[in-house]
Amino acid sequence: MPNDWSIDSWRGLPIEQQPEYSDLAALQEVEATLGNYPPLVFAGEARNLSAQLADVSAGKAFLLQGGDCAESFAEFHPDNIRDTFRVLLQMAVVLTFAGSVPVVKLGRIAGQFAKPRSDATEVQDGVTLPSYRGDIVNGIEFTPAARHPDPARWLQAYSQSASTLNLIRAFSHGGYSSLRRVHGWNLGFLENSRQGERYRAVADRISESLDFMEAIGLTAKTVPVLRETEFYTSHEALLLGYEQSLTRIDSTTGHWYDTSAHFLWIGDRTRQLDGAHVEFLRGVGNPVGFKAGPSLNPDDALRLIDHLNPNNEPGRITIICRMGADAVGDRLPALIRKITGEGRQVVWSCDPMHGNTIKSSTGYKTRRFDKILSEVRDFFAIHESEGTYAGGVHFEMTGGDVTECLGGAQEISEENLSDRYHTHCDPRMNASQALELAFLVADMLKHRKTAAQTKSAAA
Ligand code: PEP
Ligand code: CO
Repeated sequence: MPNDWSIDSWRGLPIEQQPEYSDLAALQEVEATLGNYPPLVFAGEARNLSAQLADVSAGKAFLLQGGDCAESFAEFHPDNIRDTFRVLLQMAVVLTFAGSVPVVKLGRIAGQFAKPRSDATEVQDGVTLPSYRGDIVNGIEFTPAARHPDPARWLQAYSQSASTLNLIRAFSHGGYSSLRRVHGWNLGFLENSRQGERYRAVADRISESLDFMEAIGLTAKTVPVLRETEFYTSHEALLLGYEQSLTRIDSTTGHWYDTSAHFLWIGDRTRQLDGAHVEFLRGVGNPVGFKAGPSLNPDDALRLIDHLNPNNEPGRITIICRMGADAVGDRLPALIRKITGEGRQVVWSCDPMHGNTIKSSTGYKTRRFDKILSEVRDFFAIHESEGTYAGGVHFEMTGGDVTECLGGAQEISEENLSDRYHTHCDPRMNASQALELAFLVADMLKHRKTAAQTKSAAA
């Protein structure tokens, strides 16, 4: 913990993307209330995640981070939590199996409520209102009442996060995640699809391996990793008052931890070196990330890393690259050379979503699945040629059968977008697209593994 940091040292600094609360007394009351609520995660869990991310940065594990762009109060339902969770499990299984590498599972869930926006206001039919900033801030409906930022929403977001996390913990440790159930994670609507079939083939082979292991005495009863999984939570640390209210001193180490999630990241719009967001996250012990868009220059990235992680501790920093399919080839190599050339240990993760957002001719915010694939492919190829490790992926996805991103095996067209377009913010991949992407990444992990084996056999 830096000694020139305090829990509210961010408050005097320039700050971007905050709502304007009109009732400051109500805001302070909510901050005080939340300050007395139980932490959502434990510092020890955040440290375990740091250790696993250190393995990722050393090329010994792979990071899978995914979930909603924005969780919403309206979509809060156990089935939605379960479906997102099980698609993440499916993706993780596909990656683990193909790459023979441990997969660190990190949800954009149980706290991913606050959204940065390009414009502070929105105009419809000549009426100007504050932009929607996520359900923790205001409502999505275009009315003055809904768009008015209301601090009472923090308590609802906290409560939804707590019960979402409770269900996730139950799924992770109560039997749902047992590898014996690997077939059962397939979603009904995927059953007869190409992705469903590919998944079933992997699941069959896993079941066969489990039969063999059971025959030699290794069962889910005796080997906990066969019946449980470790699943971590993350969100963008945007609404700093909320984050501060949940930041506590860990009694084991005496350090501050933001107990709203295991992992927090700084968005592409709030990563100013002298800004409030960087200042706040600099002082907490959690593993942290920042988004690296095409405007981030390598020297600034290095300064940011050194500011957030002066001791160059592996596992502390994840760079979530979101350059866009058309810019990644131009931007990423210089960034990698600078950071790695200066000896900084980081996790390199690829967010192929946020640099590839477009508007469809029918007016929907969308993403082309082939652009998403293309950015991931280039990300891996660039790391291979730079001799660095493509450590992870960061996706916006859902377990539902939505029609928000174009293309994929279901060939979603611009006309289809309106069928089931439910997102509260950015377009998410549906379960089929998410699995398709997992298979693509799995192929690249397999390729990398084979290449490494060939190299060591030749040496
Ligand atoms: C997001 O992850 O939803 C987001 C807003 O990303 P970025 O900061 O990269 O634009
Ligand atoms: Co988003």
